[in-house]
Amino acid sequence: MDISKTYALHLPTRILFGIGTAQQAGAEAVRLGVSHALVVTDGGLVQTEIPGLVTKALDASGVKWTLFGDVEPNPSIETVMKGVGVYARQGCDGLIAVGGGSPMDAAKAIGFVATNGGDIRDYFGADKIKKPLPPLVAIPTTCGTGSEVTQFAVVTDTEKRVKMGIGSPHNIPKVAIVDPSLLAKLPSKMVASTGMDALCHAIESYTSQAGQFLTEAFSLRAIELIARHLRPAVANGNLVDLSGMAMASTLAGLGFNNTRTTLVHAMSHAVTAHAQVPHGVANAILVRYVMEFNLIGDPDKHGDIAAALGEDTDGLSPMEAGRLAVDAVRDLADDVGIPRTLRDAGVSDTLVEAMADGAMKSTTGTGLNPRRPTRQDVVALYRKALAG
Ligand SMILES: [Fe+2]
Repeated sequence: MDISKTYALHLPTRILFGIGTAQQAGAEAVRLGVSHALVVTDGGLVQTEIPGLVTKALDASGVKWTLFGDVEPNPSIETVMKGVGVYARQGCDGLIAVGGGSPMDAAKAIGFVATNGGDIRDYFGADKIKKPLPPLVAIPTTCGTGSEVTQFAVVTDTEKRVKMGIGSPHNIPKVAIVDPSLLAKLPSKMVASTGMDALCHAIESYTSQAGQFLTEAFSLRAIELIARHLRPAVANGNLVDLSGMAMASTLAGLGFNNTRTTLVHAMSHAVTAHAQVPHGVANAILVRYVMEFNLIGDPDKHGDIAAALGEDTDGLSPMEAGRLAVDAVRDLADDVGIPRTLRDAGVSDTLVEAMADGAMKSTTGTGLNPRRPTRQDVVALYRKALAG
C-alpha cells in the first residue's frame, strides 16, 4: 500500500458501546428529533424481553412507537414494503432497528423507500438513493453483521431468488447502540455463526483491494478480538467474551463499510439465496476455501491475519504464515461447531451452477477480491466447499 496516495474514510455513526446502553435508546431518539419511531424487529425477538427494553426506554423519553415485528431471516421485498406501509399509516418520523442483520437491513430499506418512494428494485446496487433516510438508531442483538455502522442493506428478491445489496452512505445509521447484555441469551449456535460472519467481514476487508491504513486498523483489531473471545463466548456466554465479540463485530463493520466485502460474501449470498443456510454458517464454511484460493493474491496480508489470530509467524515466509491463517480459521470454525461442508449444512450439489451464476453477478465486490476469480474458479470452490 502506498502511504503517499490519498484515502477517504466515512465514519458518520455515533456509537454508544457498553452494558446497559440500550436504556439510552429513548434519549438518542429525542436527540435525533424523533417523535414517533417505527421499531423494526423480527418474529423471534418479539418473543423475548429485548424489544420491551427498548420500547420502555422510548416511553421514558416520551417518544411514541409502533412495533413492526414481521422481519424474517433474509428480509424480502414484500416485508420491506409492508413496513413502509406501516411507517406511513402510523405517521412515523424515525426508525429503531432491534435485531441482527435482517431487522437492521429491513429498517434501512423501509427508511429509504419511505423518503425516496418508488420500487425497492430501483435501488439495487450502489449510490442510487438520492434523499436521506429518516433518523435511524440501530441496536444489534447478534455479534456479527456490523450493519449498525454500515451503508449496506441486503434484501431478497424471492421471485428471482437473488439477494441484492443496496449500498449508499444514506443507509448508515445515525446512532448505533451496542449493548453486549443483549447478547446474553443468544443461543451459542448463533454466537458461533454470527461471530464467524464478523471474522469474514474483517478478513475480507483486510484483504480487499480497497483496503487502506485506516480500515486495516479496524479489521486487524477485530480479528485479534475474535481469536481471543469467540471460543469462550460460544462455550460460556459470559459478558466479558460477549462484549469482546460485540466490539469485534462493530469494528469489523467499520472496516468493511469502507472497503466492501469480497469473494466469501459474494459466494455465500448465492448459497443463502438458494438454500436454507444461515448467512454466518455459509460464510464460515466458505472462508477457508476462499482464503486458500486468495493466498497467492496477497501472501503478506494473509500472514498478518495469521499473526492477528495468535499464530507464531516468526521466521516464516508470507506464504507459510498465510497457510497458518487458513488452518487457524478452519480450526476456529471447527471448534465452535460450524459444519465442515456445504453438504453437511444441507446444500445440494445440483445448485453449483446456479450459485456460481449468482456469485459472479454479486454486487458485494468480487472485483475487489485479492485474486480475480473466474466463473470456473468459483465452480471449483463451491465443489470443494460441498465435498470438503
Ligand atoms: Fe456478513
